[in-house]
Amino acid sequence: MKLFSSNFSIYTLLSLLAYAPTSSFAAPFFRRSGIQDNQPFSVMTLRSGNLYVHFHSLYVGESGSVYLDPYDHVNKSSVFTVSNGHLIHENDFAHLGDSGALVFTSKDEGSAEGFSFGEEIAGGYLLNYKGQGFVACPVKEDSPVYSVYYGQGNGDSNCVGFGSLAGPFSSSSSSASTAPTSAASSNAKVQDVVPTGSSYEKNSGNGPAPIFPNGIRLTNTSSPDSNSGNVYSPVAYQKENDHVNTIFTFDVPQVSDQKCQLHFHIDKNGFPIQVDGSNGVGEFVFYNLSSAANDGTTWANTPNRIAEVGRFNCSSNGCDYTTNITCPGSYKTVSYELSAITDKSYLEYFEEINPLEGLQLTV
Ligand SMILES: *[C@@H]1O[C@H](CO)[C@@H](O)[C@H](O)[C@H]1NC(C)=O
Ligand SMILES: *[C@@H]1O[C@H](CO)[C@@H](O)[C@H](O)[C@H]1NC(C)=O
Ligand SMILES: *[C@@H]1O[C@H](CO)[C@@H](O)[C@H](O)[C@H]1NC(C)=O
Ligand SMILES: *[C@@H]1O[C@H](CO)[C@@H](O)[C@H](O)[C@H]1NC(C)=O
Ligand SMILES: *[C@@H]1O[C@H](CO)[C@@H](O)[C@H](O)[C@H]1NC(C)=O
Repeated sequence: MKLFSSNFSIYTLLSLLAYAPTSSFAAPFFRRSGIQDNQPFSVMTLRSGNLYVHFHSLYVGESGSVYLDPYDHVNKSSVFTVSNGHLIHENDFAHLGDSGALVFTSKDEGSAEGFSFGEEIAGGYLLNYKGQGFVACPVKEDSPVYSVYYGQGNGDSNCVGFGSLAGPFSSSSSSASTAPTSAASSNAKVQDVVPTGSSYEKNSGNGPAPIFPNGIRLTNTSSPDSNSGNVYSPVAYQKENDHVNTIFTFDVPQVSDQKCQLHFHIDKNGFPIQVDGSNGVGEFVFYNLSSAANDGTTWANTPNRIAEVGRFNCSSNGCDYTTNITCPGSYKTVSYELSAITDKSYLEYFEEINPLEGLQLTV
């Protein structure tokens, strides 16, 4: 089954980001002292290298099983807490079921004990059970929907280990139930999970498939000669003379018609976002660049900006923006720079595939 016609680009992204050494992650920008007992957090899956597993949220289905897609009558990503080593979701406790399947039930008795936070990554912490990560296995053979296990998984040859990046879920996000939710049905397919009520609905139908960035790099006035390496979390801010910008790099496939767009969408369905600005609204701009960024790109040697190609406002609820651009050439590698344009404008989020969060190109 094909998710998008641009699988190649997705895999490029995954292979770049899934195996990036920890040292190349962006330094966490907002400081945290760890996730406390009873503090709500959401989870994003990392490092699997598998399209159906990497960069997904966790969804606790009606049955209590845990999925990496909207499934089993649940279409909203889940929020968890850890209390005395137990993992809790809406007053239900995590148990280990058949083959170590993670299952939530209302029974406290016999629930799994030993959940804790490990390595700090990019502003979050890896959630472990007895010091180990988790395994995702397809719910049935060849299914694009995976569920979560501890240990070896259910024996399917497609089972794959992953890291569970836990990030604090700010209390202001507790209104997330009113935010747009992902489309889903009880037999959700991956194509169904793009957010509804946004421009993606149109695109997921008969529009062109989105191309994901294969490189995300930060430039920083405070460290003008250093390169961030590839990061998961784009950042753009302006604070007096301090700027951090993000450069997104895309491998362009064959450009068949002359309608090309950049799509930027973030909401509260995925890993927590941070957006601020005057009156809570940040103002941002995209530029196209004269050449593509690479591992030598720094603030000091950023390729020249050719032109502004889009401008949008964003708040802590997220934003959804599409701009028509001059089509890049077929099979070219191109970069676009995201920058804040007013003082105090601040934006940070995680580029995710499911739910769809961040910047994509369509050609
Ligand atoms: C998500 O689930 C809720 C509750 O089951 C339902 O009311 C809503 O219509 C669903 N939304 C989508 C987009 O499927
Ligand atoms: C920018 O560089 C400064 C100084 O090295 C550092 O403290 C800050 O965390 C960097 N910002 C980002 C977003 O990486
Ligand atoms: C950059 O954008 C400008 C304005 O839309 C356009 O004229 C130009 O051809 C673009 N250049 C590249 C390399 O994308
Ligand atoms: C962003 O908000 C500012 C302040 O309200 C407004 O002046 C500007 O026109 C808005 N920009 C866009 C692109 O909507
Ligand atoms: C963007 O392109 C679409 C499709 O070609 C077109 O319908 C729309 O009018 C364009 N929008 C703008 C603002 O030029």
